Amino acid sequence: MVKMDWGMKNRLSKIISPKTGKTVMLAVDHGYFQGPTTGLRAPKESLAPLLPYADSLFVTRGILRNCIDANANIPIFLRVSGGPSILGELSNEDITTSMKEALRLNAVGVGMSIFVGAKNEDRTISNLGRLVNEAEEYGIPVLAITAVGKEMERDARYLGLACRIAAEMGAHMVKTYYCKEDFKKVVEGCPVPVVIAGGKKIPERDALQMARNAIDEGAAGVDMGRNIFQSDNPVGMIKAVRSVVHENKPVDEAFEIYSSSKS
Ligand code: R5P
Repeated sequence: MVKMDWGMKNRLSKIISPKTGKTVMLAVDHGYFQGPTTGLRAPKESLAPLLPYADSLFVTRGILRNCIDANANIPIFLRVSGGPSILGELSNEDITTSMKEALRLNAVGVGMSIFVGAKNEDRTISNLGRLVNEAEEYGIPVLAITAVGKEMERDARYLGLACRIAAEMGAHMVKTYYCKEDFKKVVEGCPVPVVIAGGKKIPERDALQMARNAIDEGAAGVDMGRNIFQSDNPVGMIKAVRSVVHENKPVDEAFEIYSSSKS
């Protein structure tokens, strides 16, 4: 096992709770290719009430600087890749934010997408290798995001392939989607912590069930966005997700946390 530097260890401890071994990351980077996404049209207002319940915020530097109070006590996980918009070829991404910026912004981690099976898979995967080279120099964990794109068949075989490649390139954590069959195998085949993205908005109980299943099958937590900030009760929903991830609550109890705090 590679001996980890103090800085890397310390940052990881701010991302993944040393108490529970799990994490609730709040993903709000959607605008980097989707523009003003529903629920994030006014990020400052929508995000402020959620920050106390997230372990870290997955965000671009633009939204961070303009919409997040620097006094907010929230670890920052910086999205550092981009390029195409939703109208273009999504896999055409490069690194857009330097390591110096990540340090300047006091980030606890940096994240980028790889596009396995898409047009520019090779470039995005080698970009990940380069990002890890640089991040290792400064003790910054790298999150690789896999399986974004409409045309991908998100089954365990594909997700397992994408997650493993990300880990082989040196990513310290991987974010992917949950799949109903054999998600456990995806986790087993990936030697670094796997967190799930929530994907498109689904009913709250279903999103909580997905988080429950993912945790039961070995995920280290969630990096969830739309199923929290597009909920009719975003604060209730993030509290409910936390209860599943950190307190091992069953779905019924978590759903009660969500629904009982609805005004
Ligand atoms: C996708 O490219 C972004 O990285 C999002 O952060 C990710 O998909 C998680 O958000 P959601 O739960 O809305 O899918």
